[in-house]
Amino acid sequence: MFSIATAVLAAVTTLAQPAPNAPKEGAPAPRQQGERRISVEGTMKIMDRAMEALNGQITDASKRDENLAHVNEMQRGCVIGKGLPLPKELLEKAGDDAAQAKLKQAYRSHMLTLLKKLISLEEAIAESNLDDAKRLLNEVGQERDRGHAAMGMGDDSAVSPFYPK
Ligand code: HEM
Repeated sequence: MFSIATAVLAAVTTLAQPAPNAPKEGAPAPRQQGERRISVEGTMKIMDRAMEALNGQITDASKRDENLAHVNEMQRGCVIGKGLPLPKELLEKAGDDAAQAKLKQAYRSHMLTLLKKLISLEEAIAESNLDDAKRLLNEVGQERDRGHAAMGMGDDSAVSPFYPK
């Protein structure tokens, strides 16, 4: 007959087993069904479109909810982009392994700084602090330019029609 201790041990052992389709430790999370493959370029385009919309109406109080949705879209692009590998050509252009590691680190760090700014921007819009929102959107643009410069991209290499000349 099973003792209580045997039953508890059996339950714990079962719980400790990984689910049959669980990812291996350290492996990238599996993509959700229906989620399409996206590149750094694709996530940049998501941010670019949303930022263009914000630029025209950031101080319009009647667009608060719309602006919050645009900032959310930028955050989404930023978080997804941050976890993606840099394009091969960009890495190769950087040079040897050490130079590539440095570029990857700079990319992550700039994307993280951007994400923090986007969170502050969301708070400013949500609290209707529109002067702050305007300033923060400006800072987001500056971080974009700093990030692109760190990637060795000149002003012309960002092909957005909205990119400041
Ligand atoms: C509001 C912020 C940003 C916007 C709106 C933005 C926008 C863009 C645009 C329009 C492009 C060109 C995409 C294309 O080829 O069509 C681009 C490329 C790129 N951006 Fe950003 N960017 C932002 C921030 C950043 C930051 C912080 C970094 C970090 C270093 C970064 C790294 C890159 C890289 C690596 C590419 C080249 C992608 C490729 O060639 O595949 N961007 N970005």
